Amino acid sequence: MKTHNLETPALLLDKQAMLRNMEKMDGILSGTSMALYPHYKSHKCPAIAKIQLERGAKGITCAKLGEALDLQAAGVTNIVIANQIVQAEKLPKLASLAHKCRLTVCVDHAQNVLDLEQAMAQAGDGKLQVLVEYDVGMRRCGVSTHEEFLALAKLVSAQPHLVFEGIQAYAGHLSHEEQAEKRFADVQRIEADVAALKAFCEENGVKVREICGGSTGFAHETPKNTVYTQVQFGSYPFMDRSFLPLELQFEQALFVETTVLSVKPDRVVVDCGVKTMTMDQYPPYFPAFPEAQLSFSEEHTTLLVENTGLKPGDKLRYVPGHCCTTINIFDRMYVIEGEEVVDCWDVTSRGKAQ
Ligand SMILES: Cc1ncc(COP(=O)(O)O)c(C=O)c1O
Repeated sequence: MKTHNLETPALLLDKQAMLRNMEKMDGILSGTSMALYPHYKSHKCPAIAKIQLERGAKGITCAKLGEALDLQAAGVTNIVIANQIVQAEKLPKLASLAHKCRLTVCVDHAQNVLDLEQAMAQAGDGKLQVLVEYDVGMRRCGVSTHEEFLALAKLVSAQPHLVFEGIQAYAGHLSHEEQAEKRFADVQRIEADVAALKAFCEENGVKVREICGGSTGFAHETPKNTVYTQVQFGSYPFMDRSFLPLELQFEQALFVETTVLSVKPDRVVVDCGVKTMTMDQYPPYFPAFPEAQLSFSEEHTTLLVENTGLKPGDKLRYVPGHCCTTINIFDRMYVIEGEEVVDCWDVTSRGKAQ
C-alpha cells in the first residue's frame, strides 16, 4: 500500500530514518560506561522496544506501572520504572510484576520504601531493585541533599526484599536548552555533583552500582568519561519540532499524514485538529509550508497560505510538536519506506496512564 492510500490522520514512522537515528545513538554510547535503557514513554510500542533490545539495549525504561505490565507481557525481562509508585492500590500489582521480571523502581520518600517492602514481603521471596531519585535541578521528584539521599539509600538497603541499586538523576530541565555550550557546562556540573554523591555514599558504606538518567537533548554533550551507567533516552529514534532549535544530529522520522479538506484563495484546511495533535511543547509544523500561520479547531487545522495549487483530497504531512505525546494519541503507526507502507505497529500502551 502507498501512503496516499492511508485513511488520515495517520501516524507515519520512517523506518530507515529511525534505524539511522538508532545507529547514531550507538555511536554516542560506544566506548562509554553508558548502557542503553530506552524510554518506552516515547513510543509505547512493543515492536520498537523489541528492535531496541535486539540492537543491544540492556533493558527498557518506562514511567507507569501500566506500561511496565505491557512490557512484561510482551516478553521484556528487565524493566525500569523511572518514577515513584506510591498508591496503595498499585503496590500488590507492582510486587507481583517484580516476581515475573527484573524490576526497578524509584523512590524519594521513606514511607514509600516501607510500603514497597511490605508489598514485596506479602508477594513472596522476590526482590525489587530500587533507585533513590536525586534532584539535579529539574525540581520534579527526588531528594535534594546528599544527606537525605544517604538516609534513604540506607533505609532501602535495610529492607530484606529491596535492593539498593543507585542514583536516578534525570536532568529534564536541560533537555531543550537551545545553547549547546550551556548544555555542555550544565551537564559537566551535574556529572560532578552526581560523582560527589556516589563518593559520599560509598565513604558511608553504601555501594552505588548504577547512576541513571539522560535525555536525547544533551546526549551529544554527555562526556565519554561520564559517571552515568544507565541512560534512558526516549525521543532519539523519532525527533520532533521541539528539538529542531537544538540542531541535533538525529533526523526527523515521525510524521502525521493529513488530507486536504478544503482550499480557499487565502487558506488550506486539513483533517486534523487538536484531537489529533499535541501542543504541550510546540505546535506541529508543516514542512511544505514552514512559515504558514496555523489555526486549530477540534478536527481541522487551517493554514493561511495562498496559491498552493492544492486541491481537496491532496495530502499534507506535519512534524509533531512533541513526539511522545503525539504517539500517545494514535492506536497504531504505519511504518513507511519511501512512500510504501511496509508494516503497521500497535501503540499498545497508549493511554496506559495508570
Ligand atoms: C525520567 C526520564 N528519563 C528520560 C526521559 C527521556 O527524555 P528524551 O525523550 O528527551 O530522551 C524522560 C523524558 O521525559 C524522563 O522523564
